[in-house]
Amino acid sequence: MPVSRRDFLATVGVGGAALGGAGAGLLSLPAISGRGREALWAQQAAQGVQGVGDRKADRRMAAHAAIRIDSNENPMGPGANALNAIRAHLNEGNRYPILAEDDVIEAIAKLNGVTPNNVILGCGSGELLRAADQAFVSRTAAFVGAAPTFEAPGDFAAFLGAEVRKPAVDSKLRLDLGAMGAAARGAGLIFLCNPNNPTATVHSRADVAAFIESVNRTSPATTILVDEAYFDYVDSPGYGTLIPVALENPRVVVLRTFSKAYGMAGLRIGYAVGRTETLAQMKQWVLGSNVSQLTLVAATAALADPANIAAEIKRNSAVRTFTRKFFADAGFTMTTGDANFVMVDLRQNAAEFKKKALTKGIAVGRAFPPLTNQSRITFGTMEEMKTATAAFRELLGSTAGG
Ligand SMILES: Cc1ncc(COP(=O)(O)O)c(C=O)c1O
Repeated sequence: MPVSRRDFLATVGVGGAALGGAGAGLLSLPAISGRGREALWAQQAAQGVQGVGDRKADRRMAAHAAIRIDSNENPMGPGANALNAIRAHLNEGNRYPILAEDDVIEAIAKLNGVTPNNVILGCGSGELLRAADQAFVSRTAAFVGAAPTFEAPGDFAAFLGAEVRKPAVDSKLRLDLGAMGAAARGAGLIFLCNPNNPTATVHSRADVAAFIESVNRTSPATTILVDEAYFDYVDSPGYGTLIPVALENPRVVVLRTFSKAYGMAGLRIGYAVGRTETLAQMKQWVLGSNVSQLTLVAATAALADPANIAAEIKRNSAVRTFTRKFFADAGFTMTTGDANFVMVDLRQNAAEFKKKALTKGIAVGRAFPPLTNQSRITFGTMEEMKTATAAFRELLGSTAGG
């Protein structure tokens, strides 16, 4: 029977000194067996033993935290319908997922009032971001993002050898559409993240539509990718999808994911909506059958259960109100949190705060340069946020209310 590292440590009674290497002397036996590896990781974080600051090590460490509010995941996971579908289709693992792809594309098209020809699937929307880079940027066609925004597409564009332009967000941490428009001249792709990750700020549908029209005039060959990963969670009046524009305009693509409101980040499925000829340019970079059979049936089942998504939106909204009130009462300013996370001005170094929170078993977002004093806090469950905010009150002590 496989033995987990935690069981192993508890069973054989390894004392801290016997761990050797980086772990030597960190924890005594009672501490390990009583609090488990979360405590071990937290203590290592506090002592700087593991590579805090190194992205991959950071993420691995955060995955061990008791409260994981660092990656904008949905703490509720997939709905019952999705889980039942996975169980019911386990025995189809031997078949290529042709029919299941058709089913989910049809369900996605119906949800968004488009035809199946206007939809392509990705192994997470992350795969489609890469495909968009490959289709639209090059050494001679720049990428335009923002500082900060979701970094993966900009990083990949740089890897492809493209120039990456990143106008800073404005004083309210909103995307600076004016500066992005100015940076767009001659660019291959604009990445417009709405709501923007990590700031959780939004622009209205009308403002984004006007931005697109303006870019179409000043830089007609530039494609605009509107990433609506957090679409379901937005409350702000005037916010809306750009899918209708993407259906008309060959220079516009909209991206969505099942990783957020649908709670399926680990299952990996996202989609792009746009005109067939635009999507065809991206599709050539996407693997055939890029989403597994079980994920496809789970997504189709999730789409047939809108009540579950409505409940998730309501739950997230209550947790947002609670969390924002905590920070407001403590004297901190923050963004609207139009997503399943919020960005809070902690008036102290966010990377240091992340390390301190890890010592309490809580993983929060890392620093997102150039916003070094802003921390991105994902909304966990209400229970988790009660525990987390109690710990934050302690950690922020002297800076709170100042
Ligand atoms: C704005 C945005 N787009 C895309 C992604 C990629 O998500 P996934 O590949 O899980 O669909 C994320 C992940 O957090 C995100 O925040």
